[in-house]
Amino acid sequence: MNNTVTLAVLASGRGSNLQSIIDHCEAGKIDAEVAVVLSDNPDAQALERAENHDIPSRCMSPDDHPNSRAYEKSMIECLDRYQVELVVMAGFMQVLTKYFVDYYANQIINIHPSLLPAFKGKNAQKQALDYGVKVSGCTVHFVDEKIDHGPIILQKSVSVKDDDTEESLSQRILKQEHQILPRAIQLYKEDRLEISGRTVHIREP
Ligand code: GRF
Repeated sequence: MNNTVTLAVLASGRGSNLQSIIDHCEAGKIDAEVAVVLSDNPDAQALERAENHDIPSRCMSPDDHPNSRAYEKSMIECLDRYQVELVVMAGFMQVLTKYFVDYYANQIINIHPSLLPAFKGKNAQKQALDYGVKVSGCTVHFVDEKIDHGPIILQKSVSVKDDDTEESLSQRILKQEHQILPRAIQLYKEDRLEISGRTVHIREP
């Protein structure tokens, strides 16, 4: 097994999860390397973060491609060049089709700011507050072609306070995201994730 797992991080915006991954890599806390950052948004702060760390980045928009197949083909061509072993979706606002998901079968993970299967899709923290739950959190899961659906790797719960706003709850959840996403990457690197149907068993080291 290689000493490090080669990552592509897909991000559309702020990129704080990307930053957390980079920081964990640079501190030697996980055996991983971000080989390339891919975004669909030219203004994504994630692209600046990549640049700050001399990590190659590319911006590709579906609008510049005739259809989703062509878009995903371009992404795959790019990722192949970097011999990516694990694709990490960290706030990437595009839905991947079966074509991409099959190409990287069981090699794509996503972070979502709720305890799935509750509150899929956008504004998960607001959905949780509107519903009135007392506990929410975040989930890292393998990606399949359905939104926020694949087998769950790790979850972390966060208590919802009476006076929480979307902002305050999001901040507390984000803090946990920054821990469980790198943790999931390390478990993947150590080949400790065993998928059995919908369940991911975490093997002992
Ligand atoms: C995070 O809350 C993540 O769970 C969701 O999108 C947000 C991205 O934040 N999928 P950032 O760009 O990593 O700061």
